Amino acid sequence: MSDVFAFNGDLSAGYAQPEPLISGDEVFNAIPSSLRRVNLPRWPRASEPELVRHYTWLSRRNFGIDNGFYPLGSCTMKHNPRVNEKIVQLSEVNDLHPLAPESHLQGLMAIFYEMQEMLAHCSGMDEVTLQPVAGAQGEFAAIRCIQEFHKKNGESGRNKVIVPDSAHGTNPASAAMCGYEIIEIPSNDEGRLDLDALKSVVGQDTAAMMVTNPSTLGVFEPEIAKASEIVHAAGGQMYYDGANFNAILGKTSPGLMGFDAVHYNLHKTFSQPHGGGGPGSGPIGVKSHLAEFLPKPLVDRKEDSNGIDGWKYFWRDPENSIGKVQQWHGNAGAVVRSWAFYRRYGRELEKMSEHAVLNANYLRHKILNPSNDLAAKIPAMPIDGAPTKVVKHEFTLSMSPVKDKTGVTGKDVAKRLLDYGYMAPTLYFPMIVPECLMIEPTETESKEVLDKFADDFLKILSEDSDLVMTAPHNTDVGRVDEVWAARNLVLRHPLDN
Ligand SMILES: Cc1ncc(COP(=O)(O)O)c(C=O)c1O
Repeated sequence: MSDVFAFNGDLSAGYAQPEPLISGDEVFNAIPSSLRRVNLPRWPRASEPELVRHYTWLSRRNFGIDNGFYPLGSCTMKHNPRVNEKIVQLSEVNDLHPLAPESHLQGLMAIFYEMQEMLAHCSGMDEVTLQPVAGAQGEFAAIRCIQEFHKKNGESGRNKVIVPDSAHGTNPASAAMCGYEIIEIPSNDEGRLDLDALKSVVGQDTAAMMVTNPSTLGVFEPEIAKASEIVHAAGGQMYYDGANFNAILGKTSPGLMGFDAVHYNLHKTFSQPHGGGGPGSGPIGVKSHLAEFLPKPLVDRKEDSNGIDGWKYFWRDPENSIGKVQQWHGNAGAVVRSWAFYRRYGRELEKMSEHAVLNANYLRHKILNPSNDLAAKIPAMPIDGAPTKVVKHEFTLSMSPVKDKTGVTGKDVAKRLLDYGYMAPTLYFPMIVPECLMIEPTETESKEVLDKFADDFLKILSEDSDLVMTAPHNTDVGRVDEVWAARNLVLRHPLDN
């Protein structure tokens, strides 16, 4: 065993520190005195079994999709098939160093290439880069490509990005990070894109419009092609937020809708645990006129009889690339998991979307079934309100009527669902739906799970309002004061004094 990893001999500690490669004094002297610790950190002393017990206990206090139903709308929490973990942990994948020469990475690069091709095909785009590691980072990178495109055409004066009021918050944030002014347009009475509102703001200063379709209300935008025409006629570009790709995969594509650039959330549409803002993968795809600006590098290939199936893979930097947006080559693990996921479906990938949409509609109808007395308490939102109409992969419910009648808010219902062993749905988003609960069951849940959830959901609405308003009662942590917590952030462990 190398000295560097030698056990330090302390049996009462559940950890072993490697010996430093250079002496303590050398390290210490290299640190400016103003940055040196006055006191040593008071690390807790715990033996290995105590440490294992501690983390096991912590993990049990967590809730994840492996514990129960996780109907988190928009933020899609999908089952991560275990076979994908097996594949990503194969030493041929797991032991690769990102700086290894191309000749050592051919297998991984072939997977990357196939992913680029598959995503381009499914989205109707011409080129794809796998580099961004989150949807939001993909948005930023693609909007930067659009910015460079306008600059190259001598149109730097285009300084506005249009977003509908139902947009995910990352859309305006990404555009603002690129220096754009955000123009928000209101949705129409049905919660859909309002073309008149769009026409009234689009112009010579429009750089782009960012839209997700289906929208964050889970409804398809039937006039999306017209919106694209309006923006293109003014010289702007259309950006597709592909976070809701789960609903349309194999059925239609952003390319067909008239979009020029798109990001995909592999962690939402394909496979990769998604939580806490990552770790994910947010590749972007663009039409050919934007391809020269894509973040670098991409994987390309040329014919070579000694290569994999006659192909040799290599890294290629687009000519006028905006540069790197992520170290190495993006989140390789997420790409491989997603590749494994898509390989299992193959050309049947659209079945996944069909089941996701079927599950959302089934659950929505179960909850809003007009023959159910309780359903009268929760008329759906004005958006696609009639229970006979369809939604896509997710749906919103307004708890306003319940609040008006009993004082129970959307948040109370969400908290009470925790007592029943569910993750709460997304709460108070999109903001145009008052007292909104946003529910996305995903494609893998069975009818039994959906039936039980609908029953429990309706049961909660008939419970004593005090019980609901003080929930949760069965969880390790009760109701916390979120406003206080947000205003009084404690980001340092108290031991680190
Ligand atoms: C509609 C929409 N757009 C963008 C994002 C941002 O994606 P990410 O969380 O990967 O940054 C999300 C996140 O779930 C989303 O729901």
